[in-house]
Amino acid sequence: MTVADLRVAVLASGGGSNLQALLDAARDPGAGFKIVLVISNRPDAGALARAGRAGVPTTTIPADGQDGAGLAALLQGARAELVVLAGYLKLVPPQVVAAFAGRMLNIHPALLPAFGGPGMYGRRVHEAVLASGARLSGPTIHLVDERYDQGRILAQWPVPVAPGDDPDALAARVLEAEHRLLPAVVKAWARTGEAPSLTFAEIA
Ligand code: GRF
Repeated sequence: MTVADLRVAVLASGGGSNLQALLDAARDPGAGFKIVLVISNRPDAGALARAGRAGVPTTTIPADGQDGAGLAALLQGARAELVVLAGYLKLVPPQVVAAFAGRMLNIHPALLPAFGGPGMYGRRVHEAVLASGARLSGPTIHLVDERYDQGRILAQWPVPVAPGDDPDALAARVLEAEHRLLPAVVKAWARTGEAPSLTFAEIA
């Protein structure tokens, strides 16, 4: 008997390089998951083009992303078992968070619980890390609950802050780590059927 692949839906607002990492990893033998739907609140999101090239169905939702019933229906219609927020810049409506409680994860480009919360996204995160003098940054993957960036942490990847870094240089180094961390977490989820809790040694 073969176990069915974990059905993963991805929400993305931007270029979709994290989505691409998942699309690539899903092709690995024994990956254990497949991307069944990509949703964006921006019709021009690079993520939609990437999904299209990979033959994955896509849907665009209204820009503010606040139609909770509509979004939940899309995800349920795709029979998504796991929802991944990969550069999704809108608050997920409470109705959707409730419908996918414990089955939705987000990737954040800093080491939570520092440098998270409302307004902390994109370049601002890396500016705040640099302004603080922190010597270490790196992505965090966490469960999504109704509070911004506060759900249980599943995995982190340490990335050193280099002397002379500007926000763009740091963002690029963190993004490379994101592309390794996110597929590792989704594969581990597919393997065990539940939210993993991974040490760096288990994923590096
Ligand atoms: C990543 O840095 C991710 O951590 C953040 O948004 C960025 C998305 O990049 N949430 P991409 O669209 O996956 O290239």
